[in-house]
Amino acid sequence: MFVLRRGERVTVLADSGPHLSAPLSEGELTGDDGDARIVCPWHGSEFSLTDGCVGHGPATAAVPLFAARVVDGGVRARIVQSAGAPTL
Ligand code: FES
Repeated sequence: MFVLRRGERVTVLADSGPHLSAPLSEGELTGDDGDARIVCPWHGSEFSLTDGCVGHGPATAAVPLFAARVVDGGVRARIVQSAGAPTL
């Protein structure tokens, strides 16, 4: 899983990118708070940290997104269906 925690805000995505399964946790963050994205380390696809959707290819499918929250200092996450994302 790709987990990004910023204070009480947490984002959880599948770590395997939908293009050729690169580890998104090795990518770089770009954009600002309202449009933050993770950049795939292999071919540069960008995925929204809000909904997992593709902002920039070559990927054509969203990355699966988890609903996540901080509870007692830990992170709890459950899968949610993202439009266009493969099912886990
Ligand atoms: S493996 Fe991530 S964009 Fe190709």
